Amino acid sequence: MIEGYEQAAVGAEERLAAAADLDAVSGVERELLGRRSLFADAKRRLADLAPGDRAEAGRRLNEARARVETAAAGARERLAAADRDDRHAAERLDLTERLPHTVPLSRGRLHPVTQARDRLEDVFVGMGYTVAEGPEVETAWYNFEALNIPDWHPARGSFDTIFVNLGEPEEVMLRSHTSPVQIRVMEKRKPPVYIVAPGRTFRTDTADATHLPAFNQIEGLAVDRNITMGDLAGTIDEFVRAFFGREVKSRLRPSYFPFTEPSAEFDISRPDGSWLELGGCGMVHPNVLSNCGIDPEEWQGFAFGFGIDRLAVMRHEIDDIREFVNSDTRFLRQF
Ligand code: DAH
Repeated sequence: MIEGYEQAAVGAEERLAAAADLDAVSGVERELLGRRSLFADAKRRLADLAPGDRAEAGRRLNEARARVETAAAGARERLAAADRDDRHAAERLDLTERLPHTVPLSRGRLHPVTQARDRLEDVFVGMGYTVAEGPEVETAWYNFEALNIPDWHPARGSFDTIFVNLGEPEEVMLRSHTSPVQIRVMEKRKPPVYIVAPGRTFRTDTADATHLPAFNQIEGLAVDRNITMGDLAGTIDEFVRAFFGREVKSRLRPSYFPFTEPSAEFDISRPDGSWLELGGCGMVHPNVLSNCGIDPEEWQGFAFGFGIDRLAVMRHEIDDIREFVNSDTRFLRQF
């Protein structure tokens, strides 16, 4: 009887050594070691043996059973290790790997307005200016009053301002131009000051081919001793040529802005001989200097401001400024 069980144990060891998965291992265990298994049955049958044979048979039976148990544990371990290796192989990340791509990858690029802004900064930095910034939400003081536009001034209406519902009515607003950055800079720094301030500006305009309610301007401000209108004209001429090319000329036309006196608009020449309006400029009004604690007897300055989006439209001959905010990559890819 015992030989039969020992034979079964040897067979089980072979099956376990060859087991391809955990199900196979469990199957052998169930068959030989479980409650209704071969060895359970053998144990019951020990009772039928003569008392003299029983101890020896029990020992051999236990030994055979232990061999099966050891083989099963070994098989489980072997399978678990193999499983771990498989998982590691499957989850391995090769950080140096480059997959061949069937669709060509498209590269992102800077928006044409960002490119124009970067170039403007470069041109002015090359002329000795530094770049300044101010907040997009402003108070009436910075957006208007300090710029010599008191609340009764008709020029306030011309700015089509978007007000923010905060504090007193019409006290807080999205800045309608970058000119408030002039004030913020002069409040903090003593002259000489040479800055440009590019940034977003906002007006109640409805978007059309030539307008956007959120657009970009760049402000320029120079404050020093003995600054003249000639310095302003020369600076604008120099910037226009550096930006558009040596053959492009600029001119100033008399105009009016509350924060400059005298004020002018500046144009650039087109190949066909006509002139295109670019922005406004002038000598900083003495009231503006005083508002910032700068003595207008000692210091003079010039300032200018114009639209960056407009500039990019001109440079690339784009017929609808709304293209800049449509996020159509077929359009943006061209720049
Ligand atoms: N802030 C003016 C506007 O948005 C533009 C401007 C005109 C800025 C004259 C200036 C300036 O600095 O001197 O219409």
